[in-house]
Formats: sequence, C-alpha cells, structure tokens
Amino acid sequence: MDPKLRRMAACLLALLLLLERGMFPASPPPSGPLEKLCQHIDLHQDDFVQTLKEWVAVESDSVQPMPHFRQELVRMMSMAADMLRGLGASVHSMDLGSQQLPDGQSLPIPPVILAELGNDPKKPTVCFYGHLNVQPAQQGEGWFMDPYTLTEVDGKLYGRGSTDNTGPVLAWIHAVSAFRALEQDLPVNIKLILEGTEEVGSVALEELMKKEKDGFFPSMDYIVISDDLWLTRTKPALIYGTGGNCYFMVEVKCRDRDFHSGTFGGILNEPVADLVALFGSLVDSSGHILIPGIYDQVAPLMEEERKLYEAIDLDLEEYQNNSQVEKFFDTKEEVLMHLWQYPSLCIHGIEGTFDEPGIKTVIPGRVIRKFSIRLVPHMNVSVVENQVKQHLADVFSKRNSANRMTISMILGSQLWTANINDTQYVAAGRAIRRVFGIEPDMIRDGSTIPIAKIFQDIIQKSVLMLPLGAVDEGEHSQNEKINRWNYIEGSKLLVAFFEMAELHS
Ligand SMILES: *[C@@H]1O[C@H](CO)[C@@H](O)[C@H](O)[C@H]1NC(C)=O
Ligand SMILES: *[C@@H]1O[C@H](CO)[C@@H](O)[C@H](O)[C@H]1NC(C)=O
Ligand SMILES: *[C@@H]1O[C@H](CO)[C@@H](O)[C@H](O)[C@H]1NC(C)=O
Repeated sequence: MDPKLRRMAACLLALLLLLERGMFPASPPPSGPLEKLCQHIDLHQDDFVQTLKEWVAVESDSVQPMPHFRQELVRMMSMAADMLRGLGASVHSMDLGSQQLPDGQSLPIPPVILAELGNDPKKPTVCFYGHLNVQPAQQGEGWFMDPYTLTEVDGKLYGRGSTDNTGPVLAWIHAVSAFRALEQDLPVNIKLILEGTEEVGSVALEELMKKEKDGFFPSMDYIVISDDLWLTRTKPALIYGTGGNCYFMVEVKCRDRDFHSGTFGGILNEPVADLVALFGSLVDSSGHILIPGIYDQVAPLMEEERKLYEAIDLDLEEYQNNSQVEKFFDTKEEVLMHLWQYPSLCIHGIEGTFDEPGIKTVIPGRVIRKFSIRLVPHMNVSVVENQVKQHLADVFSKRNSANRMTISMILGSQLWTANINDTQYVAAGRAIRRVFGIEPDMIRDGSTIPIAKIFQDIIQKSVLMLPLGAVDEGEHSQNEKINRWNYIEGSKLLVAFFEMAELHS
C-alpha cells in the first residue's frame, strides 16, 4: 500500500476509535486521568439523564402498602442489579421474606442488593449505601407534572426520587462506569448496598447486617451515604453529624370518657389543665429547656467548631424569607448553634381534646401529649429519658392531682458524629476542592439518619456523609428535583474521591 495512503488510513482508524469511545477531545485536550474521566462524564451527561428518567419512571413507593407499588419496587431493585451486573459487578439479591401489615396483609420486602466490584487486597474498599424506594407522590397534589416522568426545566430535573435517593445512587454508578468505559483501573474496590425500604424504617436491614457481619461487610474500609443535602444552593458540604431524637408520650387520665362541664366542672382535676401545667414547665420563651441536668451532657463549644460556623455560607435573611419566618436569631452563628450545638424540645400535638370548630361544653377525660427532644453531642438517650421522666413526675406530684400520669418514650435514636479529620473526610474535602474549586461547608444535620449510627455500631466502619443535592431540591416534597449540575458534577466528585491519595495510605 502507498505509505501516504496507509498513514491516512491509520489516522482515520484512530479518529474512529476515539469517536467510538466517546472521548473525542474538545479543546483543550485532557491531561491527567481525572480530567479524562470528567470529560467522559460531561460527554455522556444526556445518557445519564436518560437513565435517571428510566429509573424515576418506576413507581417505587415503599410507603403505600399496595401490591402494585411493591411489584414496582421489586422491579426497581432488579433493574439496579442488572445495571451493576453490566458493569461487571458480582451482585447478590438478598431475599428478606415478607412483611406482615397491621391489617393482616402480607407484602414482599424488596430484596437488598449487595454488589461488589474488585477484590484487590492492596486497594481500599469503599462501600456506598443508598435506597431506591421513594415517598408517595401523585399528580395533582401540587406537582406541576407527573411525578414519575422526569421533566427538565432550566437545568432542573424534576421527578420523585430524583434527589432522594435515585439520582445520587446513579451518580455513584456513573462514576464507576466512567472508569470502565475508559478502561482505567479503578483505584478502589467498590461495594454497594441498595435497599428499598429506607422511607419506612429500613425493614430487616439491621437483621441482614448482623447476618452478614462476617460475610459481606468486614472487608470494607469506608461507607459513603449521599442521602442528604447541602446547606445552600451552590456550595458543596460535608456532614459530620446528625441529631438523635427522643420522642415522648405523656398521658393524663381521669377516666376514658369525657365529662359534661355543667355537671362536673369545678369538682374534679381536669386532665388538660394538668397537661398544660406539665408542658409549661418544659421550655421557656427563648427555647431554653427547663429540665434539670439536661445541659450537663452537652459538649462545650470548641473554638474550632466556632470557626466552622463562621465559615459557613448562610444568608440569614434569605433563610428567614424562604422559611416565611419573621426572625430566628440575630446572627447566623446563633442560628447554627441552636440547630446543631444545643438540644431542642418541640411539642407536636395533643390527642383527646375537643379540636373541631364550634362549641361543645366538655371536659376531656383522658389526654395525651407528644413532644420530642433533639439530641446533640454528647447526649445519651437513656440519660435524657430518665431526666424527662423524673422532671415530669416531680412537677406532677407538686400539683396533688387526683389523675394518673404515664410517660413513655416511644422512640429513642442515638445521634451520630464523625471526626472531620478522619481519612474519608480529608479525602472528600480534597475531592470537592478539586472538582468545585471551593472549600466545602462542614455542617451537621439536625434530623436523624439512624442508618449511619447502625453502620457504625454493628460493623464498626467509618461513615462519610457526602451530600450531592442543593438545599432547595425539595426531598419528600412536591416538585422534588435534582439540578443537572449537581447530578453531573456529583458523579465527577465521586470519581475524584476514589482517586484521593488519603484513602490509599
Ligand atoms: C427578604 O424579604 C424582604 C421583604 O420582602 C426583602 O426586602 C429582602 O430583600 C429579602 N431578602 C432576601 C435576601 O431575599
Ligand atoms: C448512656 O448512659 C447509660 C446509663 O448511664 C449507659 O449505660 C450507656 O452506656 C450510655 N450509652 C452511651 C452510648 O454512651
Ligand atoms: C483536626 O486537626 C487539626 C489540625 O491537626 C486539630 O487542630 C484539630 O483539633 C483536629 N480536630 C478534631 C476534631 O480532631
């Protein structure tokens, strides 16, 4: 063959190869492996959005106990399993049997997917935990579109589960697939735990963890959870703590039936009056909890933490406007400290009183009040339980009421914290600087994510909370979305995270 022709043919072949691999270089050409991987993600972002569309279309609602939704959930799990197998992962679909509902109905528990890719003892093993079930959603309940049809408007991808948690699960899978597509060696061994009952208390997951304690779980170094949001719309964040919660029910009872106030008013101790007195003793008008000893366990504010608060990008006025609240506190630092540094006591409702419109002259005979206390470091559920019971018993006994009071703590979840100097936090911080060119907000989250604590306690592994969504994604709410930018840059962030040297030391 003519050497000139041969050269031309070789050039053409190289070009075709580049095109086929989807890495035809835009200007400027990529330099390091990370840039190549990120460029691959950019070039394939429409495919990634299409996959999200297909996954959002599955009505994987775990809350409503209808067979249709359960079938959809099971289908969702098997779609995920297929995709992971396609990446070369070994996938176990763990059958967890069925769940008995209070009405006698029995529904299958969607299988938990345990997947692994890579088993190199020289590499660290990073495990991702995510869920593919969603909150209920129905068109017409405030959604501007069908919640199961992913709809893009101005770079925002609207759809149920887009941010909680389907989008982040896919971001993780795309990060792995980028290495595969470019035939680059994955710097870490990958594991995934995907479940379908997170919104209803992770049925049977704790059992599975105990069972697999010596099987699937021991060989992992870090667990990453991306089931949370940033504190702002544009600045990435790392979450190093979530709150605990103690939820109480206080019942004051004279008898089971109501009384006529014309016949009994003035001659008996009213349960509602007792209850109001009890609750008047719990918290003052500035939110300070009046239960003796409750602040004794609260960790003192460290200078380091104060600096973290100062660095956080929170526009207090915007926050107040968005919340439609006139005023919280004077400064950003005070607001953050009251959210993360101090416990809070919130009163939720009263059962048993006359609460309809109109007039009814009645004395409720038995009333129940519910309240909860959010825990912060280093508070302890059982200590708080004792303090609350002791305090309410003291206040009640001083009233000399003829009624009976019973207190029960119906939920007690421990808080979770991580050390921001732990390897996985240092690595994630560097990955954020690399991809976003910005220092992350180091934040806590007042809400509870019990799974993090369960991971830490049962399998004793370090957890990293690496949220990918912006503060206004509206998880659990109508018109839930994930920004295309968060979805795509989030995939790159995970790629960068795998490559960080800290994980490999
Ligand atoms: C908050 O609302 C007030 C009153 O409507 C307005 O003047 C102000 O500009 C808003 N601030 C922000 C940051 O949105
Ligand atoms: C909480 O306090 C109880 C009682 O003092 C103690 O037995 C328990 O170990 C503590 N739990 C934690 C997690 O510190
Ligand atoms: C983290 O490391 C810095 C610098 O080494 C140190 O000053 C700080 O006390 C550490 N913080 C924690 C929570 O361990």
